[in-house]
Amino acid sequence: MDDRILSSESQSEEFDQELSLRPQSLREYIGQDKVKKNLQVFIEAAKMRSESLDHVLLYGPPGLGKTTLAAIIANELGVGFKTTSGPAIERPGDLAAVLTSLLPGDVLFIDEIHRLPRTVEEVLYPAMEDFFFDIVIGKDATARSVRIDLPPFTLIGATTRAGLLSAPLRDRFGVLNRLEFYTVEQLALIVKRTAELFGMEIEKDATLEVARRSRGTPRIANRLLRRVRDFAQVQGSGIITFDIAKSSLIQMQVDEVGLDHIDHKLLLAIIERFRGGPVGLDTIAASIGEESQTIEDVYEPYLLQIGFLQRTPRGRIVSDLTYKHFGLEVPKQ
Ligand SMILES: Nc1ncnc2c1ncn2[C@@H]1O[C@H](COP(=O)(O)OP(=O)(O)O)[C@@H](O)[C@H]1O
Ligand SMILES: [Mg+2]
Repeated sequence: MDDRILSSESQSEEFDQELSLRPQSLREYIGQDKVKKNLQVFIEAAKMRSESLDHVLLYGPPGLGKTTLAAIIANELGVGFKTTSGPAIERPGDLAAVLTSLLPGDVLFIDEIHRLPRTVEEVLYPAMEDFFFDIVIGKDATARSVRIDLPPFTLIGATTRAGLLSAPLRDRFGVLNRLEFYTVEQLALIVKRTAELFGMEIEKDATLEVARRSRGTPRIANRLLRRVRDFAQVQGSGIITFDIAKSSLIQMQVDEVGLDHIDHKLLLAIIERFRGGPVGLDTIAASIGEESQTIEDVYEPYLLQIGFLQRTPRGRIVSDLTYKHFGLEVPKQ
């Protein structure tokens, strides 16, 4: 588990806190308007026809609200919500146990669905398509396949990497939704909402200051707010003012666009050692001592989003914005 203040992954002690901050309805869920509008229609239609909702795939970087949205969909449908994850289902039998526990219309949420073993995936195909699966009972000569029927259910899969999903699995989802990074204004609303849940007063400028440094990610916004709240309480006022927010964020070494020392190291390495690129991902990884996979999943998406990094066929390059951010002169081509 990684302990960076700006990590978009959930940290161990945050689990319960996150649960209590989760919005329960689409109305409370801030941002992702296109996705919400879509889902609203599909949910309404499924309810009108008294059918189960089509299977839904949610993808996008960690911390953008996939798990939250999955629970909301079940809530809005008024059905049960069962959750598991790709790595937790090791064998077809594990999946069978989960599937047979579903009630008609239930939502089954599989987090990190790209990590399902292939043998399990194959059991899932007919379950998704025609609500049955075959399971082999007995061994060798006595082995026989038994067909088990299932009630109609909705599978919601979540993944940070839609590209890693096998094509046959991806094709079985009727609704594909990509979650986007949040705007500063949306994050400020989330910060305001969370502060209210904490019973804290917060100045509008302070919500914006936290929002700007949250890498477009609600999970990070809530985490930064928790730290800022600590500072506010220790310093006595109980109100989160702009000054308290700003000084505590500076102390946490989160810069004004939401970058920390690892982002700095990565960008500066490209500038200083590779003349701004293009440079391959593996080369960058080796030069700063991080794993390529981590860079690609965790650091890069936000740097691409804000235009500090670009992908080209020949490798990664930094942009003029990056030079300016560090107060460096933009090299002439
Ligand atoms: N649209 C949103 N509105 C309000 N809070 C949100 C929203 N999306 C996420 N959050 C908050 O961010 C935290 C992380 O969301 P989560 O659903 O666990 O992200 P993911 O599953 O994509 O990693 C949750 O605790 C939730 O409170
Ligand atoms: Mg999640």
